[in-house]
Amino acid sequence: MVATLFPLDLGSIMHHLWLMLLPFLGLVSVAPAEKGLEFPRYDGKDRVLDINDRNYRKAMNKYSMLCLLYHEPIPDSKELQKKHQMTEMVLELVAQVLEEKDIGFGMVDAKKDAKVAKKLGLDEVDSVYVFKEDRVIEFDGLLSANTMTEFLLDLLEDPVEVLDNALELKAFNRMDEEIRLVGFFKNQESEHFEAFKEAAEQFQPYIKFFATFEKTVAKQLTLKMNEVDFYEPFMEEPVTIPEKPHSEEELVAFITKHRRPTLRKLRAEDMFETWEDDIEGIHIVAFAEEEDPDGFEFLEILKEVARDNTHLPDLSIVWIDPDDFSLLIPYWEKTFKVDLFRPQIGVVNVTDADSVWMAMDDEEDLPTAQELEDWIEDVLSGKVNTEDDDEEDDDDDDDDDDDDDDDDDEDDDDDDDDDDDDDDDSDEDEDDDDDDDDDDDDE
Ligand SMILES: *[C@@H]1O[C@H](CO)[C@@H](O)[C@H](O)[C@H]1NC(C)=O
Repeated sequence: MVATLFPLDLGSIMHHLWLMLLPFLGLVSVAPAEKGLEFPRYDGKDRVLDINDRNYRKAMNKYSMLCLLYHEPIPDSKELQKKHQMTEMVLELVAQVLEEKDIGFGMVDAKKDAKVAKKLGLDEVDSVYVFKEDRVIEFDGLLSANTMTEFLLDLLEDPVEVLDNALELKAFNRMDEEIRLVGFFKNQESEHFEAFKEAAEQFQPYIKFFATFEKTVAKQLTLKMNEVDFYEPFMEEPVTIPEKPHSEEELVAFITKHRRPTLRKLRAEDMFETWEDDIEGIHIVAFAEEEDPDGFEFLEILKEVARDNTHLPDLSIVWIDPDDFSLLIPYWEKTFKVDLFRPQIGVVNVTDADSVWMAMDDEEDLPTAQELEDWIEDVLSGKVNTEDDDEEDDDDDDDDDDDDDDDDDEDDDDDDDDDDDDDDDSDEDEDDDDDDDDDDDDE
């Protein structure tokens, strides 16, 4: 029961995939008279390979990149099979859209193809692995056609982007949500640039690497020859990596050590990885819509507090812009019992999704930086935690099936276990039924 309550549970994400796919599968029929905005729809052609002992080597050699979904054994239940097909559809659509890009796609069954999986080093079921040259990149993000496509396109690009002029530098300076590195090197042939590039490949596409060979650009970045700066998201000043020039190993070690920022934005392309990187079982989560005036103001305060406290090693706040995860909004509102139209900050226990949220007394008044800092201090010291209220009121526990006599009266003879499920599941079942109608036409 532990992992299933995790708010970003893959199962529920998979379920939502169905909704995301609707437009692609052509169930929404809008026939545009004009050309230029024709949204791709799955054409029905099989492009995703069923990877097995006999064909995996050939597939590896044939494409410049091979993208494999390592999945649970195909279940007997018809419903679960549909769920599996939906996942395969996502891959099929991505394969179709990227047909010209020399990327292979395949499915590896955790039971049937256990031998291949072992050979390839696949270990996390329901993950996607991308094989590119001698590297394996695990995709730990939202399995939607959009996110996958963007991820793969990013992987096709050069691991290091070169900044040639002031305009490109301006664009670089605006990317303050990203972890970025920038180095100044003599030229493309420099051995230090080569080491930088090798390091970049190991973090592509999650961490962005930039380089310049121009003195004027380097001067604006205050970079000396062979120097590399590390930019933490939302911080004003970068950190210069000490002791230049750097070998690939030194760069990798530094990045690995400093990778977890004080404030990070949840991104579809690595949301599960971020969520799994909890700090002693909890996350400090801030919900704020950047497009909303209150959300924007709250974010500014949050950034200020993050900058003032970036020295605290145990502080890492996950900022979620609800606009980026519309399908999860109702789920989060229900699970966390918060209004996501307002900015919120709270502590979430990743084991049971239990949470406490900072009281923002006056509807109109956002906390000051000082108030927010005090609250964060209370979280770090354990004074604010998700456990204290547990004894006083048991309302949070969805598992309790007492006091509700009415329910039992109207229920039919379904087995008792079902009653223990929380509301989420029954909602999902309803949705599934709707889906079934549409699905049957396809079969
Ligand atoms: C999170 O919840 C689990 C299960 O209820 C509990 O055992 C654990 O102590 C909690 N962790 C924290 C840090 O509160």
